[in-house]
Amino acid sequence: MGCNRNHNDKPVCTHENIAKVLFSEEDIQKRVSELGQLLTSEYDGKNPVFLGVLKGVILFYTDLIREVKIPLQVDFMAASSYRNGTVGGELVIKKDTTVDLCGRHVVIVEDIVDSGNTLSLLTKEILSRKPASLKVVTLLDKKERREVPFEADVVGFECPNEFVVGYGLDFDERYRNLPFIGVLKPECYA
Ligand code: IMP
Ligand code: MG
Repeated sequence: MGCNRNHNDKPVCTHENIAKVLFSEEDIQKRVSELGQLLTSEYDGKNPVFLGVLKGVILFYTDLIREVKIPLQVDFMAASSYRNGTVGGELVIKKDTTVDLCGRHVVIVEDIVDSGNTLSLLTKEILSRKPASLKVVTLLDKKERREVPFEADVVGFECPNEFVVGYGLDFDERYRNLPFIGVLKPECYA
């Protein structure tokens, strides 16, 4: 671990492979608490299903649901998009939800929207199951990288056009357990 500074210029502890911290543990917890309050008032009395998209969402999901102070149901999906030459690609569901979503208020919880491919396909798939409502909450939004139009309903932070790790997000299945979000040193991608 070493020392680094976040965008508020506060010193924070970092991993030796992190070049720069974009969102500190403190920044994230503050924003997650705000999102929790928003969702608490929006879904009061609706018994929503919070559908987390594995694996990148793990830390955001578990922190977020603790800040949502109403009854809700938890479940997870694992899905990715696959380019097979067709327009928009194809959704590959590696793990499906076991909850019947018909007539339910569904909140998809994601770590990051990048090209938009995964979420545009996933939302179509979930809508085909006839939920009462559907919203997408993402911790990070990398708007500059969109390949297909997609707007999340609730965004934690706008993310610069850089590959980020930590707080659930990985590079080659590493760094998911860092409590902050940062950018790796260039030599770590080699
Ligand atoms: P999409 O390009 O919007 O379909 O995003 C697909 C998935 O790629 C996201 O859900 C993340 O799991 C992953 N991803 C996109 N950008 C990053 C990043 O900067 N760091 C780590 N994972 C990322
Ligand atoms: Mg993801």
